[in-house]
Amino acid sequence: MFSAAPTVYHPYLNGVYTVSAGLYRLGVQPIEGRLEHHTFAFDRTYPHYMAAKAAARTRALHESYTLAGLHPGLRERALDFIAHAAAHDSGGILTWDGQTLGNDALGWAGTLDLRRGALENLRRFPAPYARLVSEVMPTDALDFLAMNVQEDLSILAVDAQTGTDFLAAIHVLLPERWNPLDKIGRDFAAVHAPVAGSGPMIATAPKLVKAALEHGPFVRFVWGVTPSGKLDHHPNLPPEPGLSDDPAQFFLRAERQTLHGFAAQHGALFTIRTYLYPLCELLDTPARSAALAAGLRTMTPAQLEYKGLSRSRAALLDWLDRRARVGA
Ligand code: HEM
Repeated sequence: MFSAAPTVYHPYLNGVYTVSAGLYRLGVQPIEGRLEHHTFAFDRTYPHYMAAKAAARTRALHESYTLAGLHPGLRERALDFIAHAAAHDSGGILTWDGQTLGNDALGWAGTLDLRRGALENLRRFPAPYARLVSEVMPTDALDFLAMNVQEDLSILAVDAQTGTDFLAAIHVLLPERWNPLDKIGRDFAAVHAPVAGSGPMIATAPKLVKAALEHGPFVRFVWGVTPSGKLDHHPNLPPEPGLSDDPAQFFLRAERQTLHGFAAQHGALFTIRTYLYPLCELLDTPARSAALAAGLRTMTPAQLEYKGLSRSRAALLDWLDRRARVGA
């Protein structure tokens, strides 16, 4: 099954935290020296992600999967794209014949009606991780597809009459401290309003949305530091017990996001793949520790607060500075 180690990204390496578009042309502009082509990343953490997704949907699927005005034409285009890309990027473990998506890791095959957005038939068979989804009953085609990939999915739409953009679908089971129900149906500006320092980026929203639909595909990265090694940080979850104050136990939480535009259908697919790297493994050179310290120093107090780092900033910087001086 998926045996590749998760890709390690160092999005903090320029030593500056910015709230900006940071869009790379997928397959054209290299990411940390490597050219990437994939939308979906499958690796040996697959069972861990699928277990976390299954647990989140058992807790409250309606808090994670929500729709608003998703036009059937855009839905069909997005579903077809997701199924095709997931099969392609899985290296043969997932298959898609235009109707049925099979998954030899999870032991299920779903026949989809793309026009109606429906999951018509679900067949289960023995497979290494079948137990992870044995209780999962996908509600429709998008829900089923999302339960085959490690990424979270959203669909952005633009009203052809008014030109207003809005989030038409959110299937996000592993959010970083935001609630999909606060975002569904809203435009770029409203979705990003809580992000500290997002004013200048929001001012360019029409340009960004146009780029997402018409030029792309794009890939971009988000990063933060967290004491939690959990993937799901839905704000409705109870506080996580037993989190350490020791920066040596902290993680870099990075998100690799892709944007694929469907201009003819007035929308775009947005994917989020979360990566969690223990800091003490990730920062294996003094330069990396120094870069992360520099990046944290460029966060404003409001950004530190937004990132949940106000309280741990001093201890974190102290720890990073020591590592930067003496080496890993
Ligand atoms: C051109 C496309 C986009 C750009 C440039 C962009 C940019 C950003 C940036 C810079 C942040 C702050 C990240 C941080 O440092 O914590 C952010 C946060 C966020 N973005 Fe986007 N984004 C884009 C599209 C989307 C889409 C399509 C969604 C749909 C779900 C989305 C949902 C969010 C959410 C939920 C947050 C966190 C907001 C919160 O904490 O309430 N973004 N985005």
